[in-house]
Amino acid sequence: MCGIIGITGRPDAVDGIVAGLTRLEYRGYDSAGIVTNDGRDLRVVKRAGKLQQLVKALEAQPLATSTGIGHTRWATHGEPTDRNAHPHVDPSGRVAVVHNGIIENYQALKAELGDARFASETDTEVTAHLVARELDRQPEDARDLLAAVRAVVARLQGAYSLCFVALDAPDEIVVAKHEAPLIVAHADGVGYCASDVAALIAHTREVAALLDGQFARIAPDGVEVVDVHGEPVEPHRYEVDWDLAAAEKQGFPHFMLKEIHEQPQAIADTLRDRLTVPPNGGGPRLYLDELRIDEHELGSIDKVFILACGTSLHAGMVGKLAIEHWAGIPVDVEVASEFRYRDPIVDPHTLVIAISQSGETIDTIAGASYARDQRAPVIALVNVVGSTLAREADGVLYTHAGPEVAVASTKAFTTQLIGCLLLGLFLGQVRGRLFASEAEDILARLQSVPEAVQQVLELDAQIAALAERYHDVDYTMFIGRHTGLPIAYEGALKLKEISYLHAEAFPAGEMKHGPIALIEQGSLVVALAPAGRVFGKMVSNIQEVRARGAAVLAIGTEGSTAELKAHADDVLTLPEPPHELAGPVLSVVPLQLFSYHVATLRGEDVDQPRNLAKTVTVE
Ligand code: AGP
Repeated sequence: MCGIIGITGRPDAVDGIVAGLTRLEYRGYDSAGIVTNDGRDLRVVKRAGKLQQLVKALEAQPLATSTGIGHTRWATHGEPTDRNAHPHVDPSGRVAVVHNGIIENYQALKAELGDARFASETDTEVTAHLVARELDRQPEDARDLLAAVRAVVARLQGAYSLCFVALDAPDEIVVAKHEAPLIVAHADGVGYCASDVAALIAHTREVAALLDGQFARIAPDGVEVVDVHGEPVEPHRYEVDWDLAAAEKQGFPHFMLKEIHEQPQAIADTLRDRLTVPPNGGGPRLYLDELRIDEHELGSIDKVFILACGTSLHAGMVGKLAIEHWAGIPVDVEVASEFRYRDPIVDPHTLVIAISQSGETIDTIAGASYARDQRAPVIALVNVVGSTLAREADGVLYTHAGPEVAVASTKAFTTQLIGCLLLGLFLGQVRGRLFASEAEDILARLQSVPEAVQQVLELDAQIAALAERYHDVDYTMFIGRHTGLPIAYEGALKLKEISYLHAEAFPAGEMKHGPIALIEQGSLVVALAPAGRVFGKMVSNIQEVRARGAAVLAIGTEGSTAELKAHADDVLTLPEPPHELAGPVLSVVPLQLFSYHVATLRGEDVDQPRNLAKTVTVE
């Protein structure tokens, strides 16, 4: 996510802003910038890359002022470059803005501005143009930045926290908040705003969190908070009792737990705004972020390879089920490190989908490059805008998970699962196997997934108790079928990579072909057993392993829990998913939490497990 900090009323505001941006680095970013306002000029310094690039630029171009705003950008629209870095300024140079979130209707708003010159490819910049236009419409002797911002924000769609400065209001900062965090504060004659407390606790611990639809005018003499109608309202005030390290994790003990709990929002952001009306008219259709492949070319695809590693490979297994179900194309899921060393049959009618959180995993990049050498189109499903895979692919579907800091992938995985469902629907639509209305209906049903994931997160206490019971078991077998099998693999990987306990996954139907020999008194078996086409078979597998002394933890759904309770030692009951292919998004969450609690009980370094790196950039 992007980071925002604003300060007004301090002569050394720039130093405070740079220090605040440093505190926000943990959020992950790919560019940074500052704008100062001395009433005569808005002066902007911004650079792609890490904060050090900005600091160097500031040394060469010092800014001195008592009012300014700063930003660290996690790119969502437009590659990480100097020109796309925030702040953005309107052409007249009178309004500057920084932004965290996504403005969905920015293209329509840009179109309304006709031939206005835009300096960037971002969704953000249009808000500076619009606020400047609103100020122009106000009486010259009664310019009101807050009123102008409210008028513009009333027209925005999406999730955003916006922060403006303007020459017309030299010592003011005006902010707007909707579905992206923003806090404000005032201490010792200085006004502050920031994306989160980490940027402010060096200055004050008395803060206020704006709620959706609230605005604030921040000035050296105080902070005024109003609602959409301009009526004064009381924000949610609280005292921050975290230390800085905790603040970066927003109060969570580990990044992994924070990122597990960010999944409802990450999934909602990945699902957001996936329908568009094509330029040539017709009903709304699914679209991908950047598709540089002709849709008709996709219509002639007769084979799909999905390439990935680790957790991303497990997401690809769900991608196979989705694409075969909705698009009717045969799909092979390939370990990326194996793909190019065998003799895969790849031609221009083969679509290769490369899945990678980082977009920098060398094996996946190399596999995708091999495919392109064979003239096969490549679509990248990635979380990092401008990453190598994104740049080299013919089409990109971005997950909007935000930066994932913990080595163990969680929110990136569940947003990859959503991405796989979107790809299945998209390809089904392109190949005429799905009417746009059918895809639209399924997409509408998927909108309930974030709330369902939130319900699963609320089972945490029950899951922690299970971890307490089983945290000394030195071997755990995960079994599943159909949509449960990829999650069995992912559950085993999560447990082994952060707790260092042995864990394996098998197709439940394979048990009798060997693995059941491992089962003895006290073995732990985790069984993915949602209601559905293979539930009866899973019950049989559970009975088989229990008959041989295993303890069984079953992950069921409302439709299967009653029968599971008759056979398993422990049952976690999840909501029924809005579609069976969305079931993995829910069923992985208890396994993420189970692994997290086991690892913390065992005193392991959850965020930085031994021997592992967040991104494997070497073979
Ligand atoms: C999973 O928890 C690990 N972080 C690892 O398996 C990871 O999924 C794999 O290295 C692939 O990384 P990528 O998604 O960035 O390509």
